[in-house]
Amino acid sequence: MMDRIRIVGGRPLKGTIPISGAKNATLPLMIASLLSEETLTLDNVPRLADVSLLQRILGNHGVDVTVSGKRAGETADHGQTLRLSAERIVDTTAPYELVSKMRASFWVIAPLIARMGEARVSMPGGCAIGTRPVDLLIMAVERLGARIEIDGGYVVAKAPKGLRGAEIVFPKVTVGGTHTAMMAASLANGTTVIENAAREPEIVDVAECLNKMGARISGAGTQQIVIEGVARLGGARHAVLPDRIETGTYAMAVAMAGGEIFLQNGRPHLLQAALDVLNQTGVTVSPTKEGIRVARNGAELAPVEVTTAPFPAFPTDLQAQLMALMTRARGTSRIVETVFENRFMHVQELVRLGARIHLEGERATIEGVERLKGAQVMATDLRASVSLVIAALAAEGETIVNRVYHLDRGFERVEDKLARCGAAIERLPG
Ligand code: UD1
Repeated sequence: MMDRIRIVGGRPLKGTIPISGAKNATLPLMIASLLSEETLTLDNVPRLADVSLLQRILGNHGVDVTVSGKRAGETADHGQTLRLSAERIVDTTAPYELVSKMRASFWVIAPLIARMGEARVSMPGGCAIGTRPVDLLIMAVERLGARIEIDGGYVVAKAPKGLRGAEIVFPKVTVGGTHTAMMAASLANGTTVIENAAREPEIVDVAECLNKMGARISGAGTQQIVIEGVARLGGARHAVLPDRIETGTYAMAVAMAGGEIFLQNGRPHLLQAALDVLNQTGVTVSPTKEGIRVARNGAELAPVEVTTAPFPAFPTDLQAQLMALMTRARGTSRIVETVFENRFMHVQELVRLGARIHLEGERATIEGVERLKGAQVMATDLRASVSLVIAALAAEGETIVNRVYHLDRGFERVEDKLARCGAAIERLPG
């Protein structure tokens, strides 16, 4: 739990990095298994702490989860296969001890209310990045006919006669809200129209899987999603799409360290906005059929101005990594974070490495410096921790990243993937 990562900066990266299945698709896909009595088989599932934790949470509701062993010729680079069977739901309560550890587990409210007519789910509570409320998720199930009460920190939802289709208009784009509405509406009676839906690729992936299970969803990936409710959903087999955030993170790592990396299975159209920004910095990005090649050979990094926003704009989940990269640009960069308030915890730690960053509300101004210098750092969220790894790759001397737990929640074998490309990086078991 208290592992640390040691990095000695200054080495260029060269080689291939295999991109894992997307964490942010895996979690809602696993939750979708609650919608059916039959087995949902998921391929290309990443080995992450968040996936193991969600296995425990779903187990608590009665979902039987089995992980297939490796088949002949498979390595750790192949994702896992998970079989999830929710034949019988034994408990419709998601307790505080579990939900407070992972916000996305709140989303079980949708399949539980849709299939069982009741759900009792703890409010997620405090979180390192901003307030992150769940009011819009509650609004969505309420619109579908659930009665909602808040009782002792729990959201209690009841719909004894089942849910009915409705129009759900989100005043703000929310990924979790869209997943929740889509899952609940799949088993509602009648048609649901979601307006101002999130367009993230993970929404499209979940919609495709739900349709394989027998749902009737159209328009996923656009601002309007239409769902014709069905009486029941069946089993299916689905491979999780590649992780666009992991892809963008390693693209920034090679931009920082220099060298040339092939991001195997990376799909350019999933992160075009980020690749465009990298192009502006002077990095060479070449999409191929099998992945994306990223190179920086000696050239300086040009500064950029970037505003985070929902897909297809530049993702908030790559903001910290881009900021790490810009600490070494020649000139002044500006980043505006519009998705989450307070998503700047990495700033103080980057400053410990010698970065010059000025914060004003949702705006960060980054003045590129000639050199960063290794130090002890830590981070309290997962994107922030990986930004420290990126900075360390270009810092002189040794950097120790503490609290690696956050990294393990969302990035599969970071130290392995980078070490194989020549980085001086190792895990120090705690
Ligand atoms: C998901 C991603 C996360 C990513 C985020 C934004 C997963 C598991 N997590 O989180 O990595 O950073 O999308 O791309 O997929 N909001 C409300 N009320 C609500 C819900 C959200 O005000 O009921 C606000 C949030 O505070 C935030 C904004 O809406 O300011 C977007 O949040 P949302 O898209 O819901 O993020 P998550 O689904 O939690």
